[in-house]
Amino acid sequence: MDCQTHSDLSADARDLDDLISQMKQIIVEYVNDSQRVDARVVDFKTPDELGNIIDFDLKEVGLGNNDIILLVKSIMQYSVNTWNPCFMDKLYAGTNPVGIISEMLITILNANAHVFRVSPVFTLIERIISARIGRMLKMGETSGGITCPGGAFSNQLAMITARNTMFPEIKTQGYSSFKNKLVIFTSENGHYSVDKTAVTLGIGTDNVIKVLCDNKGRMSPGDLERMINQSINSGNTPFFVNATAGTTVLGAFDPLRAIGRIAKKYNLWYHIDGSWGGSVIFSKKRLPLLDGSEMADSFTLNPHKMLGTPLQCSFLLMRDYRTLARSNSLRAEYLFHGNNYDLGDGTVGCGRRPDAVKLFLGWKYYGINGYEQRIEHAFSMAKYLSALIKAKSKFKLLMEPACLQVCFWYAPIELCENNYDVYRNVLDNVTKAVHDEICKKGMFLFDYAPLKLAGKELPAIFRVVINSPSVQKCHLDNLVNEIESVGKKFDGLFLDASHQ
Ligand SMILES: Cc1ncc(COP(=O)(O)O)c(C=O)c1O
Repeated sequence: MDCQTHSDLSADARDLDDLISQMKQIIVEYVNDSQRVDARVVDFKTPDELGNIIDFDLKEVGLGNNDIILLVKSIMQYSVNTWNPCFMDKLYAGTNPVGIISEMLITILNANAHVFRVSPVFTLIERIISARIGRMLKMGETSGGITCPGGAFSNQLAMITARNTMFPEIKTQGYSSFKNKLVIFTSENGHYSVDKTAVTLGIGTDNVIKVLCDNKGRMSPGDLERMINQSINSGNTPFFVNATAGTTVLGAFDPLRAIGRIAKKYNLWYHIDGSWGGSVIFSKKRLPLLDGSEMADSFTLNPHKMLGTPLQCSFLLMRDYRTLARSNSLRAEYLFHGNNYDLGDGTVGCGRRPDAVKLFLGWKYYGINGYEQRIEHAFSMAKYLSALIKAKSKFKLLMEPACLQVCFWYAPIELCENNYDVYRNVLDNVTKAVHDEICKKGMFLFDYAPLKLAGKELPAIFRVVINSPSVQKCHLDNLVNEIESVGKKFDGLFLDASHQ
């Protein structure tokens, strides 16, 4: 290719102009259509059917502009449309216009946020926004952190940093010189990333103690202290307590202050997994849920969940942002030349996406007020859905939602603590069958989950997450009607069970 000397568009610029012009119309229509009342969340196809529809074959000859756009269109057509307010399946929802712009910015710059020299502005944004969130969590003047590729990875980096800080010898010698077992505490409703990290770190899942929860799904501080003492008395070395601010299934907030006091009393690292619920710092009304956040040594918060920032955008905040580099750096001088702004040195990775800019632009665009409105709208819709469920005789609400997850059964019989066991299999089967049928139709996506509460296994329960800013009462009315009409087919099963 010749060097470009004339003023015409370069080949790249021409292709970009063409592709972007075509995409602009496609994505604007896509977003618009997704919010029509009759829009499907997904045109569900099996893997075999997809294989027949989309050309997955990788060939010698490239497609070029027009055919690549056709391929993109078919990928969109058979993918899940998270912009649709009836996507209530996971803890994220569709993003927003400024989210798209921020992803475009990251892609056009294709910047790597490991060292300041190659991403100066993004690095500064990450530093500044992390420090700001740290202060909002009241973690202190030196608080701050970095982004990681997701909540699970943020929790993982928190535990790695805790271990390297508290037992620096393990960093060099491994566990060979370490006699005692390291022990971790989390609740029975905590996220599995804590267990996975124990696997990754060679600590082992047997050394992750699952502390009991109360009947609202919150970790019991009394049980935590009892387990810590038991572990010490057995000659083990407890070192890490994970509390959850917004559990995955119920959205429960552990009593952060009471747990923090216990962690401090025994000199344990105190991590708060606020992957889901941490974002409520943007809403004044919800701040009491995070009471005690200032006691955390580290805190995970995922704007890609409750705030609609594009996946992924996850922060790991530390009491002192310098701890990350101090504990994790290996001084790889071919990359890191001693600049304190080289954020990658604090991670266990190398290259990094500059994800912080997505929250930065979203925050600039909506302001704290915009995020607060989004959160409050979601809370009020979750409340509306729980009221609807309570008013229906054939449904049973598990409990008033603590956050944005509404958990309930379709159960046309009187359900109470004492008869879950009688109906366990029926409830399990009905929840799964109704879920499967509705999700295949594609007008709604939501999930179900098994659940352990206060040490007791409950039958699988519907978990509907209300997070989209465009969800309205009519969507929730339609959802309940749909579950009722599909659920009716199974009413006989409940009668059979009651006669057994
Ligand atoms: C409480 C909690 N922690 C961590 C995670 C993991 O987050 P990610 O999917 O971003 O890795 C989740 C995911 O739902 C979660 O609910």
